[in-house]
Amino acid sequence: MGRIAYVDGQYGPLGEAAVSVEDRGFQFADGVYEVCAVLNGRLLDWPAHLERLARSRGELGIGAPMSDRALELVAKHLLRINFADDALLYIQVTRGAARRDHPFPARIRPTLVMTVRPFDFRQRIGQQATGISVITHPEIRWARRDIKSVALLPNVLAKQAAKAAGAFEAWFVDGDGTVSEGGSTNAWIVDRDGRIVTHPNGHDILPGVMRATLIRIAREAQMTVVERAFTRDEALAAAEAFLTSTTAPCLPIVRIDGQPVGDGRPGPVTARLAALLWDEVARQTNWRPR
Ligand code: PDD
Repeated sequence: MGRIAYVDGQYGPLGEAAVSVEDRGFQFADGVYEVCAVLNGRLLDWPAHLERLARSRGELGIGAPMSDRALELVAKHLLRINFADDALLYIQVTRGAARRDHPFPARIRPTLVMTVRPFDFRQRIGQQATGISVITHPEIRWARRDIKSVALLPNVLAKQAAKAAGAFEAWFVDGDGTVSEGGSTNAWIVDRDGRIVTHPNGHDILPGVMRATLIRIAREAQMTVVERAFTRDEALAAAEAFLTSTTAPCLPIVRIDGQPVGDGRPGPVTARLAALLWDEVARQTNWRPR
C-alpha cells in the first residue's frame, strides 16, 4: 500500500507531510482525533466517528475544518489512492497555527490531517482464542476523558508500562479502586450472573464507538448490559472480562495484574459477543475472517 497523507487541502507522500511548528496541536496538544476501521476498503461505523469528532471539537470550541460531507469525500479519496483494503484511518483536527500563547486568537483556521495505515484485523481472531492480559495503572488523566483529545501522554505512559509487563493493555484505576477504561480501549466484565458490565458514559471515559455497537447488539440478542462502574476487585472476582475498541473489536482478558480472570480462559459470553460483533462488521463491510 502506498502512503499518501492529506494535510490541509494537499495530498502528498507521508514522509513529506508536515504542519507548522506553530501548530497548536504540536505546541499544546490542542486538538482532537478519530481512528476509524477500514475493512474491504469500507469505513466501519463512519457516522458515529463523524459525530464524535464534531462533539470533541465542539467541547473545545475548535472550528470545523470542512463540512461532514467534504470530510467523507477526502477520507474516501485518501482510502482509494492508498489502495486501502484493511486499514486504519486517522483524522486529526487541531485548533490551528498561531503565535505561541496559551489563549488562542478569535480567528484561527483549524488544521486537518488524515493518514491511512494498513492494519491486519485477522490477528484479533487468534487473540480471541488465547485471550490477552491487562495490568492496572493509576488514573493519571484529566477530568474530561470523554473528549477524544490528541493529548495522550498518560495513555502513552500507561500503555508503555503494559508493554514492559508483557500485557496488551493497561486499565486506569481511580483512588477508590474503580476501573474507568483502558489506555485505548473500553473495559468490561461479565458478572457471575452473566450480566455484562461497563462504566457509564460521562466525563470519566471515552464514549467508544465499539462500546456503543456492542451494547446495541448485546441488547438485541436479549443479553443484559449494565452501565455502572466496577472495581479492580470485582473484575478479579468476575466470570469474564474483555475489552473493546475500533482496533480490537472484542478481546477476552484472561489475566489482570498476573491473576487469572474466571478459570483463566476466554469465556462463552465474550466469545458470543465477539461473534456478534464480527457479524455486524460483515453486515457493514462484507469483511469476514478467513
Ligand atoms: N482508541 N478509550 C480510549 C481512551 C480510547 O483511546 C479508545 C479508542 C477507546 C475505544 O473507542 P472506540 O471503540 O471508538 O475505538 C476507549 C483508538 C482506537 C486509538 O486511539 O487508537
